Order: sequence, then C-alpha cells, then structure tokens
Amino acid sequence: MAIHQFDASEAARLEKHYAIPVIVEQRRRTLEALGASVGERILDVGSGPGFLTADIAGIVGSGGRVCAVDTAEPMLKAGRRRCASFPMVEFQRADARKLPYPDASFDAAVAAQVYLFIPELDAALAELRRVLRPGGRAIVLDTDWGSTVWNSRDPARMARVLESWKQRYGNAHIGRVLPGALRRAGFAIEGAEPVVIVELAATEEDYGGGQLKEVAKYIASQQGEIAAEAQAWKDEQLTLEASGDYFFSLNRYLFVARRPA
Ligand SMILES: C[S@@+](CC[C@H](N)C(=O)[O-])C[C@H]1O[C@@H](n2cnc3c(N)ncnc32)[C@H](O)[C@@H]1O
Repeated sequence: MAIHQFDASEAARLEKHYAIPVIVEQRRRTLEALGASVGERILDVGSGPGFLTADIAGIVGSGGRVCAVDTAEPMLKAGRRRCASFPMVEFQRADARKLPYPDASFDAAVAAQVYLFIPELDAALAELRRVLRPGGRAIVLDTDWGSTVWNSRDPARMARVLESWKQRYGNAHIGRVLPGALRRAGFAIEGAEPVVIVELAATEEDYGGGQLKEVAKYIASQQGEIAAEAQAWKDEQLTLEASGDYFFSLNRYLFVARRPA
C-alpha cells in the first residue's frame, strides 16, 4: 500500500493542525532537546510547514544557518512563507535518503515525524550522520503507532482499523527500532524520552479528534472489507465522546543522539 503523500491539501491541513496545543508542546520539547545556540548551522530534515525551522532560526540568529529539506513542494512553499523574514534559512527540495550537503556541514540536525514515512531508515540515518560534524548532535522524534490506546466497544474492529491505518506509514513502529538503527548508523544515544498524548475529547483542537476524519478517509479508500468499516468506526468514536467515554493515547519518542567526536 502507498505511503502517505504530502500534497497541497495536506499542507493546508497541517498548517492548522500543527498549531494545536499538543503539537506546540511537542515542538517546545524538541527545541529544548536540540539546545541550539547563536551562530550554529542546523539542518531540519522533513521540515513540513516550517514551524520548527522558524523557531530554530530565531535562536541561531543572523550569524547562523538553518537548512530545511523536504520532498513535498507544497510543504516547502508553506515553510518558505513562514520563514520569509529569516534570511539565514534556506529551503531545498531533497530526500532525507540523499541529502544535498557535503560531509560534516552541520553542528546539529533535527528530524521530527519524518523517518516514520521512510522505509529505508538505515539509509536516511547514514545520511544524517554523514552531514553532521564529528561531535554534532541529532534530535529524532517519531511516533510508534503500536503504542495507540483508542477506546472502542468493538476492540476487534478498532484493531483492524489501526492495522489498516499503519499502512499509511513506511515505518509505523519506528519508535522501538530507532535506538538500534541510530547505533548501527554510528550514533551514540544520549537520551530517550516519551512524548505522550492523552486525550479525553475529540475536538479539532485535539490530536486524535483531528485524526478521526483522516483515519476514516484513509480506511474508506482501502481495498477489501475494511473500507466498509470506516463510517461505523468514526460514528462510534463520536458516540463515545458524547457519552463521556472517549479516550485516545499515543506515544512519540524523542531521541538525542551524537556523532562521536
Ligand atoms: C508529518 S510532517 C512533519 C513536519 C515537520 N518535521 C514538523 O514536525 O513540523 C512530515 C514531513 O516529512 C516530509 N517527508 C516525507 N518523506 C520524506 C523524505 N524521504 N525526505 C524528506 N522529507 C520527507 C513530508 O513531505 C512532510 O513535510
């Protein structure tokens, strides 16, 4: 099954979705782990709408440099718009598996919610290590969809829905394999922490609430019997919310890694 494509409508959706409180908090923690300072050269892999890119630019200042790469033109467009007032930011269309920079170009790099979409994780991490200077640090944040707890009175259907949804990602269980993959790529891991989402409501301001429509749309577009379950599954979630029984939880994992000096 095809991995999710980031087209213009997805770029517009993420512009709104990335302003919800849990994502703002996730960004704050990612930025804190990155620990950027004035004058540094930083790479943002899979920069999307450029929220994190702009935050980093504000820290490194005019003597620093922020390079942002993404494979999707609509995302790059959104990022360029967001960072228009930061001359030290440069966006390029490029793949995380083949970064357009010489060896040892950066003091630090961040990849938030990107490797999840890349089945060739080892190739992407080898590139990440290559472009970091010796002693440079990498912050990798990703979701492990195997950590999902989503209440349902029909757990078997819930499990089928989730199994189908995971096909949207090249690497739905990436959280658990990242430590080994980072080490194999030659990184030393200095920290790992969960970024946990727990929600009791399903509004558009909630992560799970925002995903309800996306999950239902994706499931409905799939082959086989699962497609017919999408509407009933979504209706049940809204019923659970109305009765006060809604529960959604998901873990992201934030790794701090370093290319040994
Ligand atoms: C979920 S968004 C995350 C955006 C951003 N890092 C953030 O956290 O706000 C994933 C982004 O990764 C990009 N992407 C997916 N596969 C990629 C690849 N192989 N190389 C570079 N970017 C990729 C997508 O186009 C999309 O913009």
